[in-house]
Amino acid sequence: MSISLYGRSLLTLLDYSPEEIRYLLDLSKKVKNEAKKGKVFKRFEGKTLALLFEKRSTRTRCAFETAFGEEGGHPVFLSTQDIQLGGKESLEDTARVLGRMFSAIQFRGFKQETAEILAKYSNVPVYNGLTDLYHPTQALADILTLEESFGDAKGKKLCYIGDGRNNVASSLMIICAKLGINFTVITPEELNPDNELQQKCGALAKISGAVIKVTSDINAVKDADALYTDVWTSMGEEEKKEQRVKLLSPYQVNQNLMDKTGKRDTIFLHCLPAVKGEEVTADVIDGARSKAWDQAENRKHTIKAVMLATLKK
Ligand code: CP
Ligand code: NVA
Repeated sequence: MSISLYGRSLLTLLDYSPEEIRYLLDLSKKVKNEAKKGKVFKRFEGKTLALLFEKRSTRTRCAFETAFGEEGGHPVFLSTQDIQLGGKESLEDTARVLGRMFSAIQFRGFKQETAEILAKYSNVPVYNGLTDLYHPTQALADILTLEESFGDAKGKKLCYIGDGRNNVASSLMIICAKLGINFTVITPEELNPDNELQQKCGALAKISGAVIKVTSDINAVKDADALYTDVWTSMGEEEKKEQRVKLLSPYQVNQNLMDKTGKRDTIFLHCLPAVKGEEVTADVIDGARSKAWDQAENRKHTIKAVMLATLKK
C-alpha cells in the first residue's frame, strides 16, 4: 500500500491509521540512520515553520527548530509574548495570516481546540507539540525507542505508572492500541484515563490484538518490558502539586518497582523533564536500564520524519 501524508496535520494519533504510524516510524529510522552517517540534505529549503508556544519546552522546541533548520528550512519561534493568539485578534484570523506566510505550524499550549482551529483556518499542516490532551510526537519517539531495544514492539508490554489521565499517557494508549502493543496504566482511580478515550482505544485494540488495562495495583508491572513515567504535575496544573505528591507517592518508579517486573532487561522510559525523587528515583533514570536520553534524541528524528512526510511530495 502506498502511503502519502502530504499536507496532513498531526493533531492526535487518533487521526492516523496503524499503517500511517508505521510509515512515520520507518521514516524516522531512515532519518536517524542518515544523521548517524553524517548525511546532510536540504529537504526543507525554501520552507518556513512557525513555532507557537504557550507553554515552555526544551526538547520539542529544539527538535523542531534543529530538524527543520539544518535541512535549510527557516523556523520562527513565537511565544505568547510575541504573537496575538486569541488576544487582540481572533485565533481564526491569526491562523489565516500564518497560513499565508508559513509552510507549517507547530503549536504547544493548553487547549486541543486551539490546534484544531489553527489547522482549520491556516490550510497548512499543524503539528501538535503538546496540549492538555495529547502529545503525539512524543508517543512516536517513545515507540521508536521501544523498537530500538526490542525490535518489533507488537506484543511487548509497556506499563505507564503515574498520572494516568495526562497528555503523555493518553497518546501512549492510542499508539499502543493501534500498533498491538500491550499497554497497562497503573494509576490511582482518581487519575484514571478518560472513559471515552478508553472506549476508543478498546475498540482499536480489538483490531490490533493489543491488551489495554487500567489498574491501581503496582504489582501489574509483572512481566513488563518497559516501565514509563511522567511528571506528577503537568504544565498548567501547578496548583495541584501537593495533592498529586500525596496521591502518587506509592507510584514512584524506583529500583524495587523495576525488580518487580521479574525481567532483567526491562527498560525505563520518561518523556522528560523529570523531577528526580518524585515520579522516578535518580538511580533508575540515570541507571543502565534507562533509555530516557535516547528517547529525547528520538524526538528530533521522529519530528523530522513527520515534517518530511507532510511537507514533501
Ligand atoms: N518531552 C517534552 O515534550 O519535552 P519538552 O517539554 O522539553 O519539550
Ligand atoms: N505531562 C507533561 C509532559 C511534559 C513533556 C506536561 O504536560 O507538562
